[in-house]
Amino acid sequence: MRHLTFAANWKMHIAPAEARAFASAFLAQSNPVEGRTLWFFPSAVSLEAAANAFGGRADVRIGAQDVHWEAKGAFTGATSIPLAHGAGATGALVGHSERRHVFGESDEETGRKVAALLAAGLTAMLCVGEQLSEREAGQTQAVCLRQLRAGLGGMGQDQWGQVVIAYEPVWAIGTGRNATPGDAASVHAAIRAELGRLGAPGRRPVLYGGSVNQGNVASLLAESEIDGVLVGGASLDPAGWARIVATG
Ligand code: PGA
Repeated sequence: MRHLTFAANWKMHIAPAEARAFASAFLAQSNPVEGRTLWFFPSAVSLEAAANAFGGRADVRIGAQDVHWEAKGAFTGATSIPLAHGAGATGALVGHSERRHVFGESDEETGRKVAALLAAGLTAMLCVGEQLSEREAGQTQAVCLRQLRAGLGGMGQDQWGQVVIAYEPVWAIGTGRNATPGDAASVHAAIRAELGRLGAPGRRPVLYGGSVNQGNVASLLAESEIDGVLVGGASLDPAGWARIVATG
């Protein structure tokens, strides 16, 4: 049976009280569907509220938007994996394009974060994707595969079950432009081939992200290479998100 993952990246939105209100509205409109996993990535301050509010649903997982690779210490403003886990996270995004291109996160840092998450027994959702200039220069696959190798370079071969990949072309994020399903699928196929070369023993989920909404999600999920979606703007409304996770 095909497994689909629907991931909501709430970015710098949704305070704890809003997370509770979102969960009660969403849960009233959405029932678990076999073969579907729902991830919510709230801000660090709303992790615990979200984890508690969604607590009863076995298909729901809560993740941090970013973590530091050190377990503790003098890192003002950062969230460690034990802190996120203590608040209810069982995974985290790593290398989201806003971390890379707004906050200057390097490939090497993504590798450390993935390795630390996997060592702690959590899931790492590693985001890769090219900028517009890289796409125009014909470097899409080279950039994505470089980010993939750097992000996964420190992992152990027994940790593949904790790895999810999200392909998010930077030019498609929050812009209303999205890759055509066929374009996305061909990058997904290249990512999947690289995962095989890196030693992935079976099929790992590869999600698509970038301006996914109610109008385009069905055509993206129609591609067998696309195992789900990572969604920002269209995940902020509980009714709309309930419709998206019911697609297909
Ligand atoms: P968007 O964001 O759906 O608002 O384009 C996706 C993401 O950045 O994960």
